[in-house]
Amino acid sequence: MTKILLTGTGLFTPPESISNDELVAAFNAWADAHNAANAQAIQAGELEAAPLSSSEFIEKASGIKSRHVMNKSGVLDITRMRPELPTRSNEEPSQLCEMALAAAEQALAVAGRSGSEVDAVIVACSNLQRAYPAIAVEVQQRLGASGFGYDMNVACASATFGVQNAVDALRNGSASCVLVVNPEICTGHLNFRDRDSHFIFGDACTAMVLERAEDAKNQQGFEVLGCRLATQFSNNIRNNFGFLNPAETPPRSDRDRLFIQEGRKVFKEVVPLVVGLIGQHLGELGIEPQSVRRFWLHQANLNMNNLISKRLLGREPSFDEAPVVLDEYANTSSAGSVIAMHLHQDGLERDDVCVLCAFGAGYSAGAVVLKKL
Ligand code: COA
Repeated sequence: MTKILLTGTGLFTPPESISNDELVAAFNAWADAHNAANAQAIQAGELEAAPLSSSEFIEKASGIKSRHVMNKSGVLDITRMRPELPTRSNEEPSQLCEMALAAAEQALAVAGRSGSEVDAVIVACSNLQRAYPAIAVEVQQRLGASGFGYDMNVACASATFGVQNAVDALRNGSASCVLVVNPEICTGHLNFRDRDSHFIFGDACTAMVLERAEDAKNQQGFEVLGCRLATQFSNNIRNNFGFLNPAETPPRSDRDRLFIQEGRKVFKEVVPLVVGLIGQHLGELGIEPQSVRRFWLHQANLNMNNLISKRLLGREPSFDEAPVVLDEYANTSSAGSVIAMHLHQDGLERDDVCVLCAFGAGYSAGAVVLKKL
């Protein structure tokens, strides 16, 4: 079978960031104002008081300490509590395109490729900025790439599904240099007035370049030993935002057009799904989980990642074996596991086996087994 290489990765990190304390202060100021404004209804039992959030809870329950964001002031403004992004004209690059180009530039430089050598662009992410034209086609044009581009959404697992598509395209000959980008402005779909989830997400974008080994300019990076994907329907992570919202009668609430999850159920149900997927995939490749040098896991919850690694390894993982970026980045959806891979390649030696694995809404999960070149 044709050998496929992942020859470059890139990362765009928004310059602004919000600490747990800053986020909690804004949430609690909003909750106090909300409770004061609705004191009578709350007293009469017609409305529930908004409970207060806490930084200690957030860090203990998730491992998150801060998040990078595209706009801080809008999120922390208690009369707004959502990012404030300039409406771009049709002639300007969309925000997702701009982030994608920044990450792509780095990944292409590592791969020793120029934008004009790319002949397939896959934008794989959870939240697309518009219906069409595809963001990928916009990225393709701005890179000066040839071939084709398309957008795809498999929620937090999107990057790994994008890698599978890239590998398929390279093997079947429909492309020779594929760019997979994962632009995520997760703060745009987050309900910053929901105590259970207001701390979960951050913004970022990652990029990966994949090529056939015989074509790769730089024989470096990783060989893709295999990809496995799995999906299993669940309503436990859901977002009902969509183009039919204005047509829906009666109209949905604002809350129902933002991210909602049953975090505890997700935790319980996704851990065995992911452990099974990675375990089976490694088994098919004849690789013992204990001989995997590094797991770049989806970055949603530290306790969840530790449990996944522990079930695979039979012991607690070290930071070196399962690096963490969610403390600084929070959950950046499809970008998370790729950020971990991009930032934590130190100490790897030739032939080391690593696993890139992402999971989330759907449920969806993807595992990519890589060998260091
Ligand atoms: N501040 C203080 N207390 C809070 C709080 C906050 N921000 N949010 C919730 N709580 C309270 C709850 O009301 C609950 O109180 P109770 O025990 O009195 O009912 C208690 O803390 C525990 O809440 P729970 O939601 O059960 O916490 P948890 O330990 O499950 O942690 C998540 C919540 C979201 C961090 C965790 O479930 C998670 O990360 N799950 C996996 C999510 C995931 O991977 N999603 C896929 C990616 S999209």
